[in-house]
Amino acid sequence: MFGKYPLPAALCLAALFCLAACSPFAHLTEVNNTLGEPHGPQAADCGQCHLEQFGEWQASAHAQAFLNPKFQAALTEGADDSCLGCHVPDTVRTSGETPLPRRYHREDGVSCAACHLSQGTMTGPEPESALFAPHPIVVQPEFFRNSALCGTCHTETFADWQTSHSALPATPTCQECHMPQVVRTATKGSNLFSKTLVSFEDSRSTRRHTFGLSHLADLPGAVRIELQRWQPAPLNILQLSITNTLPHTLPTGSFRSRPVHLTVRLYSQDHILIAENLAPLVGENLPPLKPGEQRQIFIRLAPTPDAQTTTARLCAVELRLAPRENQAGLTLATREIPLSGAP
Ligand code: HEC
Ligand code: HEC
Ligand code: HEC
Ligand code: HEC
Ligand code: HEC
Repeated sequence: MFGKYPLPAALCLAALFCLAACSPFAHLTEVNNTLGEPHGPQAADCGQCHLEQFGEWQASAHAQAFLNPKFQAALTEGADDSCLGCHVPDTVRTSGETPLPRRYHREDGVSCAACHLSQGTMTGPEPESALFAPHPIVVQPEFFRNSALCGTCHTETFADWQTSHSALPATPTCQECHMPQVVRTATKGSNLFSKTLVSFEDSRSTRRHTFGLSHLADLPGAVRIELQRWQPAPLNILQLSITNTLPHTLPTGSFRSRPVHLTVRLYSQDHILIAENLAPLVGENLPPLKPGEQRQIFIRLAPTPDAQTTTARLCAVELRLAPRENQAGLTLATREIPLSGAP
């Protein structure tokens, strides 16, 4: 098995005996979350070897779940321990109960250990392939590739999802939409020793820890946009129907809601802009759309001074989620719909 890399492999083997003897990795799995001085691993400890997962997680909202200024403000105003279970969880289980609050490294929010460390063992989706793992590993794909893991904390979003899933069993999981697919090894090397170790690992199809939205732009099938009616001058009214085809409320989030707007533009045969307008889909007294819910939108499209709406041949629709404090807005869908000539 060392055929590929004889010298590094021998060096590794020697180093492994030393590692096994001095056990410098006990801190990765030793936790005290009960009485006395709390302690346990930090996300940055895992980041020593799981470089990519750490970088992705660090840029995600999960890493900010405790430090988020809004959450800190709530704590200052007297929010109690009942808030901590989801924002600074100890071990996450899918029994349907809120996790216990974590007493160590709270700054890490929803940290690696919460999802991966249970009773002194690391759990993951794939069987071990490495020459040496510094911590024990138990394989539980059914736990990691299940929406119930996310549903432990995202309770309302999960309730929506369960309803959609029972109607349509092929509904994708939370992970399939919010953790983009990638093929990689579980660790990445940063020096000769670790690079040699990594060279023995299998590359596997797995998912990134971005837990976000940025890669979702124009997810086919997130919404259905249909033209119902176009009435040119003198009315200049376009009627669209928008259906939420996501397996959860649009927008989702029990603790926040972001306005969603439509931008509509009309173009002539030669792609000259004739008219444009903006209309709210959600916000300004319009509630979020439940899964499967359809909303009719009427938009007035008055032409620019030297154009005529009767020459409009194409309607371009863009659906956008409004920006939040530290996050850019997001295009959820864009569609181009041909308009017939005379009404
Ligand atoms: C010194 C390097 C090192 C550190 C530090 C480390 N790991 Fe690992 N980890 C490994 C190696 C090596 C494997 C085995 C990879 C394989 O067999 O493909 C592994 C495997 C895993 C797996 C299973 C991967 C899978 O595909 O299912 C998980 C989950 C995991 N580690 C999480 C963690 C967490 C969480 C921490 C921090 C508490 C951590 N690791 C710290 C080296 C490390
Ligand atoms: C231990 C509880 C917990 C678990 C388990 C959990 N989350 Fe979260 N998640 C949170 C909290 C708390 C926030 C809000 C953090 C903040 O904004 O400060 C959040 C935020 C998010 C966001 C919003 C991201 C953004 O940019 O606004 C997404 C998407 C998300 N989680 C997806 C997932 C997915 C997918 C899973 C399952 C793989 C999952 N979460 C598992 C607690 C959890
Ligand atoms: C909210 C839960 C959650 C958190 C927090 C989390 N993970 Fe994961 N992790 C998952 C899920 C789900 C998968 C399975 C992805 C798949 O389907 O292959 C996974 C897979 C992995 C794997 C194996 C796949 C791979 O990428 O090679 C490793 C290693 C891992 N996580 C390490 C970490 C580390 C390190 C951290 C912290 C920096 C972390 N995880 C934080 C849920 C989580
Ligand atoms: C078909 C793909 C898809 C699936 C499956 C899915 N989502 Fe989403 N999710 C989206 C899209 C698109 C958005 C943006 C629109 C919105 O907020 O509803 C979103 C938004 C979110 C947000 C709000 C993020 C923010 O910053 O406002 C959270 C939290 C979230 N999803 C969690 C989940 C959880 C938990 C599950 C599983 C129970 C899940 N999602 C399943 C596509 C999906
Ligand atoms: C059952 C799990 C759970 C509990 C308990 C919980 N949260 Fe959250 N919290 C979440 C999730 C999941 C999100 C992100 C997605 C969403 O909005 O649904 C979140 C988001 C937040 C945000 C971010 C809002 C933003 O716009 O950035 C704040 C602030 C917050 N929660 C405060 C609290 C407070 C205060 C409590 C206690 C009264 C609490 N949470 C209890 C799961 C929970």
